[in-house]
Amino acid sequence: MRKRKISRTGTLIAFEGIDGTGKSTQIKLLADWLRAQGEDVVATREPTDSVYGRRIRELYVNRGACTPEEELELFIEDRKLHVKDVIRPALNAGRTVLTDRYYYSTAAYQGANGLDVKQILQRNRFAPQPDLVILLTMPPELSAERISSRGGQVNAFEQLSYLRRVSEIFASFAEPWICRIDAVQPVTSVRDQIRNALSRL
Ligand code: TYD
Repeated sequence: MRKRKISRTGTLIAFEGIDGTGKSTQIKLLADWLRAQGEDVVATREPTDSVYGRRIRELYVNRGACTPEEELELFIEDRKLHVKDVIRPALNAGRTVLTDRYYYSTAAYQGANGLDVKQILQRNRFAPQPDLVILLTMPPELSAERISSRGGQVNAFEQLSYLRRVSEIFASFAEPWICRIDAVQPVTSVRDQIRNALSRL
């Protein structure tokens, strides 16, 4: 067992995948379901609303405002605060944490931006390892379609060619705690498969 898991009693579940795969819908469904069974659930997300998260959101309209390394730094600093202020305290209190994105997003998105995926993962070793990662999969073409059908501006992280590279990196992860679910299926099927995946815990 890796050191990162010692002295915690809660459960950490991360939802990952390219934009438009329905992570936030599924997190809400799962949180409601778990709460109905009396579980103490914290639903959270990255980027957070910290000073770093706010700077990250500024990049949606002007990604060229910083270098890939500086961008990586912002995601890591944002996560350090998230871990310290939200994730660790909740795990130590025995709660179930559902996070919309975690360090696999950094590996995939900042990796697709030209940085080394292994090094990115190493720089995230401060972050507790999730007990389960729900990786929602979908062809990037469909994801791009869903994003544009939402209306509004497609942000700098949501361009199709970029999402294709992000998707390939997500596909390369092979840890046993990663559970891939086809997000093209109806919401209720995805929901049921997520519930099934939890039985592994
Ligand atoms: P998203 O989940 O869409 O957040 P919100 O809608 O609340 O602003 O994430 C924003 C974008 O940031 C998304 O395209 C993925 C990207 N991202 C990274 O590039 N690296 C990361 O480490 C994280 C957490 C997100």
